[in-house]
Amino acid sequence: MNRLDPRQRLAAAAASLRSCLEQHQAAGIQVLPAPTRAAAADAPDAARAGVDETGAAVDLGQLREILGECRRCRLWQGRTNIVYGVGNPDADVLFVGEGPGRDEDLQGEPFVGRAGQLLTDIITKGMKLQRNDVYIANVVKCRPPQNRDPEPDEVASCEPFLVRQIELVKPRVIVALGKFAAQTLVRSAAPISRLRGQWHDYHGIRLMPTFHPAYLLRNPADKRLVWEDIKSVLRELGTVAG
Ligand code: URA
Repeated sequence: MNRLDPRQRLAAAAASLRSCLEQHQAAGIQVLPAPTRAAAADAPDAARAGVDETGAAVDLGQLREILGECRRCRLWQGRTNIVYGVGNPDADVLFVGEGPGRDEDLQGEPFVGRAGQLLTDIITKGMKLQRNDVYIANVVKCRPPQNRDPEPDEVASCEPFLVRQIELVKPRVIVALGKFAAQTLVRSAAPISRLRGQWHDYHGIRLMPTFHPAYLLRNPADKRLVWEDIKSVLRELGTVAG
């Protein structure tokens, strides 16, 4: 995570943008090309992880304003609503999913469909918390067409907003829901069956991957493994699991 204060980060981002634009101008380029998939995948960690305009946001509301009516990648074309994130801005636990589905796109809130109901049950019945005790966000904030996985350049455009949400909420624990969120945050290609159940480090924050609630709807027998993961989270928080 970037340790510079927001003003330093903004100044660094402005300086690097100015130098980049000067180089383009010197080369006679007047229209900036859209990032290619390869360029996005190859971008250094600092560029992917928030050394940009998101670092200027001092709270979640300001970050939402910076996000605006986002057109940073092509996903805006199919969206009804941006699905930014909901919950307690001081939450101890931050859940991260992949991206909005149809219900979330229509309502503008993460995890409100069938999978969302299961996540709500995990929070309320399993963890004995309210949905608004935790914070819930996604890797990408707009629904991918036909619920396909987000493309690397879409993740590269959107991830700085997730990084800044995490920096601002400062949760004690992140729970990555499913393969996509887990692999993105942990920077690993390992299958979710190997990643889950183990603690990972996300820039000093404990991160527990677990199965996605949508997967659990299709494979209810694996709910017991998610319960094991949630019990580890509760132990980490010092809460006794029932
Ligand atoms: N699946 C996700 O990963 N996120 C949502 O918000 C809804 C379904």
